[in-house]
Amino acid sequence: MPPSGDHRYFTSTAVLLNEVIKLAIALTLAIYETSKTLAPSTPATVLFEQIYNAVFSGDGWKLILPAVFYTLQNLLQYVAVENLDPVHFQVLYQVKILTTAIFSVVLLRRHLGGKRWVSLIVLTIGVSIVSLPSPESAVDALLLHGMPDHYFPRSKHELGQASTADLSPESHLTKRSATYEGIANDLPPPDPLMNYSVGATSAVVAAVVSGLAGVYFEKLLKESSSHTSVWIRNIQLSFYSIIAATIGGVMWQDGSGIREHGFFEGYNWVVWTAIGLQAAGGLIASIVIRDSDNIVKNFATSISIVISFVVSVWIFKFNVTVTFLIGTSLVLLATYIYSIPERSRHRPPAVRIFS
Ligand code: C5P
Repeated sequence: MPPSGDHRYFTSTAVLLNEVIKLAIALTLAIYETSKTLAPSTPATVLFEQIYNAVFSGDGWKLILPAVFYTLQNLLQYVAVENLDPVHFQVLYQVKILTTAIFSVVLLRRHLGGKRWVSLIVLTIGVSIVSLPSPESAVDALLLHGMPDHYFPRSKHELGQASTADLSPESHLTKRSATYEGIANDLPPPDPLMNYSVGATSAVVAAVVSGLAGVYFEKLLKESSSHTSVWIRNIQLSFYSIIAATIGGVMWQDGSGIREHGFFEGYNWVVWTAIGLQAAGGLIASIVIRDSDNIVKNFATSISIVISFVVSVWIFKFNVTVTFLIGTSLVLLATYIYSIPERSRHRPPAVRIFS
């Protein structure tokens, strides 16, 4: 819960609003999809009745489980991000690549050959390496944006009277090496609001739940007995997720804070943009899961991390670092290995040349 007066938003409200936006979009698309199957003169009431029946009759209740899992995953992700630095979060959360593969084998009876397991391990390592900052870029960023005093207490003595206004290259270099030492030897005290073990546990549990939720959703989407469209499935998922996010997040996790400060405490356009992107990402993920699978979706998100870094190099003039090049090479190598067709397990009988 954010402390009073710091104007941070309540993460549970973001999880809930994400589901409300997804529900609105999925409902719109389901109405459009169903209307195409009906005659133009069909009254709107019939259209809504069809959608109502599709959502609430049959096996719609089965979405309760993935809804609870996805809501838990989203809440845990926020807890992890609040308690960990972005690098540790990214690295730990990549465990989801392996948990997704394990659940695909267990729940969907999918066969993954040795080559594919190797490629998934290489992908996990590669995307983790891409997320690592190079020490140089961290130091440059700190020098550029200003160093808090406690970063280099010793170096300040060594630098004597050197003023921060001295911007000569020599001064920059001296400061830079002093800063390296400062970072290595004199790390500032950790943020007292951050709890590493809570953050790390949340990230790993979120990664396990990500695999379970995704694969279970895929199972329901592809069940041969069900021909329910992806938009109806998304309506069902969001409907139960809204209940889960309201009870587990807004009432239980942040209830007292929200009563004190209000539901929209700390909201600004950045928070709204993040919620909008999360909703769009969720709906796109469901299409990828329908048309391919969760493992391929994880390849896509890993490659998107690489692409967003390349765009940052281009737009924000980020440095291309050695770690980035190694990580990217591993991600590309893993994608290549995964895409090599596996040899069939049921080999045709050997042709007898001599009888
Ligand atoms: O990290 P991961 O790839 O598991 O994230 C998938 C995201 O997609 C989750 O935040 C989940 O809530 C979202 N999702 C969704 N609707 C679906 C499937 C996934 O919002 N139908």
